[in-house]
Amino acid sequence: MTPRIDDIQASLREVLRFLADAGVDEALDEVAVNRFVEAPRRKAARQEQEERTRETGGKAAPAAQADLRRPAAAVPDEAQAAKARELARSASTLAELQEILAGFDGCNLKFTAKNLVFADGNPEAAVMFVGEAPGRDEDLEGLPFVGRSGQLLDRMLAAIGLDRGTAYIANVIPWRPPGNRTPTPHETEICRPFIERQIELVGPKVLVNLGAPSSRTLLNTTENILRLRGNWRVHTTASGVAIPAMPTLHPAYLLRNPAHKKLAWRDFLEVKARLRSLGQ
Ligand code: URA
Repeated sequence: MTPRIDDIQASLREVLRFLADAGVDEALDEVAVNRFVEAPRRKAARQEQEERTRETGGKAAPAAQADLRRPAAAVPDEAQAAKARELARSASTLAELQEILAGFDGCNLKFTAKNLVFADGNPEAAVMFVGEAPGRDEDLEGLPFVGRSGQLLDRMLAAIGLDRGTAYIANVIPWRPPGNRTPTPHETEICRPFIERQIELVGPKVLVNLGAPSSRTLLNTTENILRLRGNWRVHTTASGVAIPAMPTLHPAYLLRNPAHKKLAWRDFLEVKARLRSLGQ
């Protein structure tokens, strides 16, 4: 029996609803890609190319070359985390770190993101703000905090006399998770060495952790952000430098819970006072 058009449409609607519930909000390609079978495909493509190269006496066919150029998606594992730690340590400048990150294929988030979102602001600044991960606007522009929460962050910075010329801004995760889903603990572990090295290379006098994921990752705690916020902590770099850190509420959270803006305001005043006491 031929399926009725109504039934087909109903099934398609169900699939779309399922995808939307799973956080899919954008089509990246005409055809869905199962990234977990990319690695075997790549191996098969290489073998095919080797065979063709043998047959054609050294000239590889263009189709096979195109297949090999497509990056294999990384399945997060401990080996990638170890590689990330080694690579991050090897960067001696921010430019080097950015280049290393751009060439790093060990985090699956890279393959769905449009751009690497490394940082914005002044790397000479006395204060560094670290958020969680880029959203859609940040992914499109390649800059952190440029969407709605970024506009709020700019207003919060202005309220304590700062802007992107006097502050440095980055994220724990430099690639947008698809559909803005929460990064997995493994993705966070893989990205952690890079943000830690970034902090170490910037060497801010004060660190501000925007939201729970940034605070928990960089301050080694599992405490609730509403308990954590407003209390000075310490972020210790790999080389042992202790940086005073202020965990506070994330601007995106404040957009959803405007009644809590007063708490973030108190935290920002603390940051301002600390910078003053340090002669900044
Ligand atoms: N939220 C973040 O944590 N970082 C951004 O860059 C944007 C939104």
